[in-house]
Amino acid sequence: MPRPWMSSVLLFASLLVRLTDGRVRPLVPPPPDIIAAEGITPPIEPFAVPIIGAALPRNGWTATADSVQDVNVPSNVLDGNTATMWHTEWTPVNAPLPHTITIDMNAMNVLDGITYLPRQDGSSNGNIGEHEVYISVDGTTFTLVAYGTWLDDNTEKSSDFEPIPARYIRIVALTEAGNRGPCGTEINVSNGGGYIPPPNGLGKWGPTIDFPLVPVAASIQPFTGKVVVWSSWSARTFSANLGQTVTALYDHLGSKTVTQRIVTNTGHDMFCPGISLDANGRTLVTGGDTSQKASIYTPSTDSWSSAANMNIPRGYQASATCSDGRIFTIGGSWSGGLGGKNGEIYDPKANTWSLLPGCPVAPMLTNDAQGIWRQDNHGWLFGWKDGSVFQAGPSIAMNWYGTGGSGSQNGVGSRASDGDSMCGNAVMFDAVAGKILTVGGSPDYQNAGATNAAHLITIGNPGSTPQVTTLNSMAYPRIFHNSVVLPDGTVFTSGGQSIGNPFYDTNLEFTPELWNPATNKFTQLVPNSTPRVYHSFALLMQDATVMSGGGGLCDTCSANHFDAQIYTPQYLLNADGSPATRPVITFASANTVVPGNTITLNTNTAVTSMSLIRYGSATHTVNTDQRRIPLPLTSAGTNSYKVTIPNDYGIALPGFWMLFAMNGNGVPSMAVSIKINGP
Ligand SMILES: *[C@@H]1O[C@H](CO)[C@@H](O)[C@H](O)[C@H]1NC(C)=O
Repeated sequence: MPRPWMSSVLLFASLLVRLTDGRVRPLVPPPPDIIAAEGITPPIEPFAVPIIGAALPRNGWTATADSVQDVNVPSNVLDGNTATMWHTEWTPVNAPLPHTITIDMNAMNVLDGITYLPRQDGSSNGNIGEHEVYISVDGTTFTLVAYGTWLDDNTEKSSDFEPIPARYIRIVALTEAGNRGPCGTEINVSNGGGYIPPPNGLGKWGPTIDFPLVPVAASIQPFTGKVVVWSSWSARTFSANLGQTVTALYDHLGSKTVTQRIVTNTGHDMFCPGISLDANGRTLVTGGDTSQKASIYTPSTDSWSSAANMNIPRGYQASATCSDGRIFTIGGSWSGGLGGKNGEIYDPKANTWSLLPGCPVAPMLTNDAQGIWRQDNHGWLFGWKDGSVFQAGPSIAMNWYGTGGSGSQNGVGSRASDGDSMCGNAVMFDAVAGKILTVGGSPDYQNAGATNAAHLITIGNPGSTPQVTTLNSMAYPRIFHNSVVLPDGTVFTSGGQSIGNPFYDTNLEFTPELWNPATNKFTQLVPNSTPRVYHSFALLMQDATVMSGGGGLCDTCSANHFDAQIYTPQYLLNADGSPATRPVITFASANTVVPGNTITLNTNTAVTSMSLIRYGSATHTVNTDQRRIPLPLTSAGTNSYKVTIPNDYGIALPGFWMLFAMNGNGVPSMAVSIKINGP
């Protein structure tokens, strides 16, 4: 929560804890198994207990509920006694859901979250799952600040949201375990510190979406726009490999519900994988904790199935869908043995992996202090023309990989003045012009200062030396941040920390930056208040907002973030913060095309530009699926336009894309899904 304009409020706090520490609960380091598994060296700076984020004193508070059973009165959630609870009526009548409990703090406070402790007596009956959290100033008008689903266990749950002044807080229980009504032993409200309303004009951070897991990896599904997220075999840790994956599905445009699933049928712990969306919009997940396996999520059937095993076990590799629809992967010494993680390629039609001995990993290694275990991680890969893959980083060295025959590789120099940029971001914001923005990263995976450097790489034909330009830098150095290309070609970067310390919410960056290719400037946007660092993700949604979530997966640590937030860019808002009127695409002459096809789109009002953005997948700062194609318009009558898909599979990769139309004010429509059929 500390925002740049809050520094005076936080002057005292800053003596105790770095100003940039934001909403940091009293710091709990990861347990020894996590420290060992990730080779973590804890940050050396001293930590103090922050004032902000701690529980507000509950003196004089009252609680009311819509239903009570006997002695299980609502005030029990405020009594500091975890043996007493609030419970709704279960006998003689089992009062039906939903149920509400409302806390009156009897004074205005700035709050930024609540914690809910389920019953501690060994029973799981009454654990609240699906829920909504509201705040109110007057006890009459309630505003939604968080919603989603909490994990069904007895650990303390939280809903963290943007700081807001309020007197009342209400939890609505929509589901619970046990079918006898919800209960809870303690509810606390976290101190949001000082409050200055976020300024208009820089976008908005919306209500929090609570997940029953730390969402470390995510992919968005064509047509429905639902987001599949997953952690590891466990919702809160990854150490060990139990051959299963805890997942959830969030329905952003429909019911806004979060549904849970543990995927066991593939025997694959999909933590720390490579991810690529194939030509049919399926998500291919490779390696990770179960390093040799590959799994496929099929959105049409909402099901997971096994793909053929890779030849080389991997974790932390990257993969990229190629122009012919095959999927290339390289690197990944984090799991399945050290070194030799040369390229191989998956053919989704034949369900086979083929080694590419001509695609050695050695030319793309960084010089990481932790050696090969880290040096081949998280490649910046771009499928390009004629089956080629351009590797833009994170090594300072750039390479072309060819996927024909037994593969090929040629080095094409270094990324100008940049250094190795592990866990930085690379985004193809204009595929027609071959333009890639790179931002941030660090010479070493951890314990090193991150860079604020930005570069523009322009690629031409496969094998040719790209042009690299050093751009104006970001305001903030970042590692473990995420970048998303928006329909208008600007690139949104959020989160990260200035010194890479996995599983420690330290040295945090809360202020997103928006890069505009037309001006080559980064603009600072409205900060959010939840750390998004190691194990976070961001994805562009079909409504042109950005989902930013996750962070942690370190068991009992304080850096776990079981949530995500929606950022609404300013293009969707009027100057006063109200929603802008969006143009609507009312008709598309085709939803399935091949490169070179021309399609007609009708809109309800005039629009001035359109673009295609490929559906994204993200984990560990890697999103090789997103890329943007600007679509020049030709008029086909009043509010009717023709656009032509670039006639090259290397630019217009097979698979599903979101087509957006922007009006003269830059307001984007909702996307329509366009499938570019593979060759
Ligand atoms: C709630 O906050 C109080 C401090 O006001 C603290 O003593 C207590 O441990 C907290 N309870 C839970 C369950 O977090």
